[in-house]
Amino acid sequence: MNELRIGIIGTGKRKEEGDETGYGMAHYHAKAYMDLGNCRIVACADIVRENAEAFAKAYDVPKIYSDYNEMLSRENLDIVSVCTWPRLHSRMVVDCARAGVRAVHCEKPMADTWGGAKLMFEECEKRGVQLTFNHQRRFGKPFRVARELLKAGEIGQLERLEGSCGDIYDYGTHYVDMFGFYNDEVQAEWVIGQVDYSREKLVFGAPVENHGVFLWKYKNGVFGFMGTGDAMGAVGAHNRIVGTEGVIEVGAPDGSDLRVRRKGSARWEVMDTHGEGLHGPGYIERAIADAVDALQTGREPELSARKALNATEIIFACYESSRRRAVVRLPLDVDDNPLAEMIKSGVFSRKEP
Ligand SMILES: NC(=O)c1ccc[n+]([C@@H]2O[C@H](COP(=O)([O-])OP(=O)(O)OC[C@H]3O[C@@H](n4cnc5c(N)ncnc54)[C@H](O)[C@@H]3O)[C@@H](O)[C@H]2O)c1
Repeated sequence: MNELRIGIIGTGKRKEEGDETGYGMAHYHAKAYMDLGNCRIVACADIVRENAEAFAKAYDVPKIYSDYNEMLSRENLDIVSVCTWPRLHSRMVVDCARAGVRAVHCEKPMADTWGGAKLMFEECEKRGVQLTFNHQRRFGKPFRVARELLKAGEIGQLERLEGSCGDIYDYGTHYVDMFGFYNDEVQAEWVIGQVDYSREKLVFGAPVENHGVFLWKYKNGVFGFMGTGDAMGAVGAHNRIVGTEGVIEVGAPDGSDLRVRRKGSARWEVMDTHGEGLHGPGYIERAIADAVDALQTGREPELSARKALNATEIIFACYESSRRRAVVRLPLDVDDNPLAEMIKSGVFSRKEP
């Protein structure tokens, strides 16, 4: 079988400890491609020459570009990984699709506006380009076993999904997406939410709320709830799956990665996740292997844009609900980033009389 030609946009800089000013995610993507026998990274593009050079040296990449569009037009790429900050994702994915690549694996969150997220989805759909987003935790044991327990009826019927993390947009995209994984990718019907943005908070260049409370209802009657910032304590677990007769927690308050209170039992049972935690190991490798396999077999990838779009709509609808001070019914009918627009308009600096 022919080797797939891989290109990387945004090589980043490898760091021992990544943070919200740079993780060097491209290095994780590179390792995942290199683990596969049928992929070859043939080119990379970065506006910072030294980042691209270090990347090319580490993974034996023959060509470096400072203009990613030049790379797209010259390299006849099969798959491109987009590993830049969120405000660049939509434009870059659209450029990849228009340049004729077969698949794009883009970092989360999808885009910095709801309109941008829809555009990248539509452009790829129209051109038959496979688009995936790196919500790699769908491949993690704690999350997978949690879903298996739910599907096996161990907690009765699903009633509510709860999550907590620092913010709903950047970190939270993993968990709103995970709720789709637990809840059969059902779309939401309505959303209500409130945010606080008393001080500047940027994650990978994008503004995120300081604190937030968000509630939504899926079309199958299941509720989603998320507390962010100081409201994380209202949930306590990273993910809680509440059923009519039991509860499952992923990233539980007792420090376990997965525990269950099965129907008929009053006790928590800690489950073995075979050394896999909330972050890995091996999740990005599996995510990219799945995207490559899906491209070759023509099936829908686990991390498809269709699924990511469901989560992204909920996230922007949560911000829109805060702006409107009202329930927002989906489909979402604004295209901007309501949080960014509220910040610009100065609503958070207004003092009540
Ligand atoms: N999946 C996860 O668990 C996870 C974890 C951390 C970060 N992320 C996401 O990964 C994405 C990338 O974050 P990062 O921290 O790896 O980034 P980074 O800062 O480490 O690297 C981004 C690179 O993009 C380059 N760049 C900027 N503009 C460019 C352009 N026009 N053309 C080409 N290159 C350009 C920069 O020079 C930089 O080298 C973000 O969306 C972030 O949310 C995902």
